[in-house]
Amino acid sequence: MRNINMDETLVIIKPDAVQRCLIGKIINRFEEKGLKIIAMKMIFVEKHKADKHYEAHKGKDFFDGLIDFITSGPVCLLVLKAQDVINIVRNMIGDTDPKQAQPGTIRHDFGMHIGRNLIHASDCDESAKREINIFFKKEEIIEWKHSQYSWIYE
Ligand code: RTP
Ligand code: MG
Repeated sequence: MRNINMDETLVIIKPDAVQRCLIGKIINRFEEKGLKIIAMKMIFVEKHKADKHYEAHKGKDFFDGLIDFITSGPVCLLVLKAQDVINIVRNMIGDTDPKQAQPGTIRHDFGMHIGRNLIHASDCDESAKREINIFFKKEEIIEWKHSQYSWIYE
């Protein structure tokens, strides 16, 4: 196996997906794809963290509803690590609006409405670093060797 550059991304399995018992199905897609989980936990998102996470949307008409929603019940947080993981996961989750998302994506396959779109994933490297930092301490990130790597990467 060649030396591979690995990136990291933050995934939030949102309160609707938790309530609908989709945690396992969603995590399974990432595992089957070959992405490595290097951190995982279930939390209630505190309001100040929700504000920080979605600060780019402050002032938009959907902002208050978005903060109410993301703090409305437990979420499951993951940090995934793989080559080009940010684009891969954004493609796997699909368009923000489940009505526009392609079949085979998580938002298409499980979602009906833009305000209940099941999952978040970082949209670029800078966001990923910022978002991971909001939710995880350094010691919560678990570096481990994926025994299947030579069967996933050339
Ligand atoms: P996310 O941050 O949650 O992963 O979603 P995203 O990148 O696909 O979409 P983004 O533009 O960052 O929007 C954040 C969340 O706000 C809600 N939204 N509602 N009603 C609307 O027009 C609208 N636009 C966005 C969505 O729930 C979206 O996930
Ligand atoms: Mg976003």
